[in-house]
Amino acid sequence: MLHPDTELRTINDEVGYGVFATQPIPLGTITWALDPLDQILTLHRVEQIENQYDGILTRFTWVNANGHRILCWDFGRFMNHSCEANSFGPGGCHFEMAVRDIAPGEELTCDYATLNLEQPLVCQCGSSRCRGVVKPDDLEYVASTSDGLIRTAFTRVRQVKQPLWHWVESQNKEIDHMLHHPHSIPSVLKHRWLSEQTTKASKSIGS
Ligand SMILES: C[S@@+](CC[C@H](N)C(=O)[O-])C[C@H]1O[C@@H](n2cnc3c(N)ncnc32)[C@H](O)[C@@H]1O
Ligand SMILES: [Zn+2]
Repeated sequence: MLHPDTELRTINDEVGYGVFATQPIPLGTITWALDPLDQILTLHRVEQIENQYDGILTRFTWVNANGHRILCWDFGRFMNHSCEANSFGPGGCHFEMAVRDIAPGEELTCDYATLNLEQPLVCQCGSSRCRGVVKPDDLEYVASTSDGLIRTAFTRVRQVKQPLWHWVESQNKEIDHMLHHPHSIPSVLKHRWLSEQTTKASKSIGS
């Protein structure tokens, strides 16, 4: 479930669509959370899906720390990568939060290196810190800054409006623990699914 104060906009022919804020989304706001309509596709399930869906699966799903492909039913599947992303999630968790204030008209972005990216992506994020090509093994480099950003965002989690709280409520205790013990917040490195398994996942959709 994507934050409600967002809309889909066209970026260009190559990148396609992106998700943009329609209202201010403050630091610490949950921007996306897994919801019951999102599909969690196990390796076995992916193997059963006909090859004609390979392109859709590659473009619109991301691989979680268990090797499952997540397919968002809403505009969450249109979130683009930025090398200076404004949304990150603690490692292994199925939610993301704003790691800085997001202004109306600003694009909501994540870092694909935290989502078990399978193929390098020639990046058009436009950031002055653009890595040029986003690579699956950028994760350690990304963790060196994103873990600190997530910790700072957590300090605001109970102070800002949280329209997506319902979808993280079952993790209430864990979130409180992370809030009070910032060192317990799992590093984005915990998003990593072992690379040989990722290869297997991509093979299983025929690439
Ligand atoms: C999950 S989709 C995001 C939605 C996509 N923009 C669309 O309209 O279908 C992922 C794809 O978007 C494109 N994309 C996302 N971020 C990008 C970026 N920073 N630079 C270039 N292409 C990007 C790539 O084609 C990527 O495979
Ligand atoms: Zn970039």
